[in-house]
Amino acid sequence: MRGGIPLYGELCVQGSKNAALPILAASLLHRGISVIHNCPRILDVENTVQILQEAGCLVKWQGSSLMIFAENIQNTRISSKYGTQMRSSVIFLGSLLGRKGNAILPLPGGCTIGKRPIDLHLDSLKRMGARIEEEKEVLYADTEKMKGAKISLRFPSVGATENIILAAVLAKGTTWIQNAAREPEIMELCRFLKEKGAKIKGEGTSVIVIEGVRQLRDSEFFLMSDRIVAGTYLMAAMSAGGEISLKRAPVSQMTAQLQVLEAMGAQMKMEKNKICLKAPKKICRLVSVATHPYPGFPTDLQSQLLAVLCKARGRSKIVETIFEGRYQIVPELRKMGAKIKIVAQEAWIEGVEELTGTTVRACELRGGAALIVAGLGASGVTTIENACFIQRGYEDIGRDLRNLGAAIETS
Ligand code: EPZ
Repeated sequence: MRGGIPLYGELCVQGSKNAALPILAASLLHRGISVIHNCPRILDVENTVQILQEAGCLVKWQGSSLMIFAENIQNTRISSKYGTQMRSSVIFLGSLLGRKGNAILPLPGGCTIGKRPIDLHLDSLKRMGARIEEEKEVLYADTEKMKGAKISLRFPSVGATENIILAAVLAKGTTWIQNAAREPEIMELCRFLKEKGAKIKGEGTSVIVIEGVRQLRDSEFFLMSDRIVAGTYLMAAMSAGGEISLKRAPVSQMTAQLQVLEAMGAQMKMEKNKICLKAPKKICRLVSVATHPYPGFPTDLQSQLLAVLCKARGRSKIVETIFEGRYQIVPELRKMGAKIKIVAQEAWIEGVEELTGTTVRACELRGGAALIVAGLGASGVTTIENACFIQRGYEDIGRDLRNLGAAIETS
């Protein structure tokens, strides 16, 4: 890609990856049809579709609509071929235990952004009546019948909250989750399940109550947009300069990131599902921004923000409070001339006049997106190796940015 070209134009934000993945796992809970519209065509979704088909589901794409028929689930073993591709396969524990009373799946490995243990998932499902053993990096789980329980999470884990909900929907009795995650993706999963007849209250707050039901029903669902993809494109415009507008943007879920953009000098106009952003000539520095669970500034946008602040006027600070390994991208940004110092979970960024394009390497999804953000604002050509990581979460970032005038080619 060649940087230094301001972005102008409009694009439509894709469906939410982090809502789609638990919803696809949830479709296993119903012996019938689930149709999900506006489903993003990304690697993680394709991989999850493979897991559904391996379990015995019939799955059919029609454009961005996905039809899942989960009448016969004969196989409750997730092969390592798919299960280790992404950490979110652990979410199938809850839905397979809820539907079939057993599940075998590979222990999801750590990844570059952190150890990412699953103790909260396992402890919670055991409290609901699951027996779970680990042998040679494989989890063996079974139960006579999942039963309701009172669960208090020491951390509002998104995945653990989702796994508990999936296990509780068909369980015997009622489940209470204290200190539940409040992310919009949790609310979207609950909206999907309630449209299928599940009995859930409190989603979006720290206390969620699920009353087990005997069965669910066929449904058709329109998936919400992806707030992290939307934020990524806004950061891209901040880095490259110019003026863009996003259609189908989940504005009400983006308050924290819009406040940060405003503090950096962005001029924005917001309507219900539309954001117009005009980038400032010079990025204002941020004295200090910390990532937090929702509704705080999202950790999934931290690397993209870091890339923008590399050219801010003055010194900025970012504090990453969610994942201990989310500064992997810093050495790559330094190759482009960025001045970043890491002290424990803090990143201190001295703004520079210019970044210079060079060859850099992505090592995970959002860090890869951050390298694109940096390259758009750099002089000269930037080549990103391992860019395939980016396809895990973005349908076609090259196409979208070219439609805004960027000189970017993706292989
Ligand atoms: C989800 O991951 C998202 N993934 C992540 O997005 C996102 O960064 C994260 O939530 C935080 O918002 C999906 O939804 C598929 P967590 P998840 O459980 O569920 C610790 C992206 O780029 N923890 O809320 O794994 C954990 O180590 C991805 O789209 C435990 O200690 O996040 C971390 O420090 C990256 N024990 C913290 O909690 C557990 O059992 C947050 O993890 C579980 C988590």
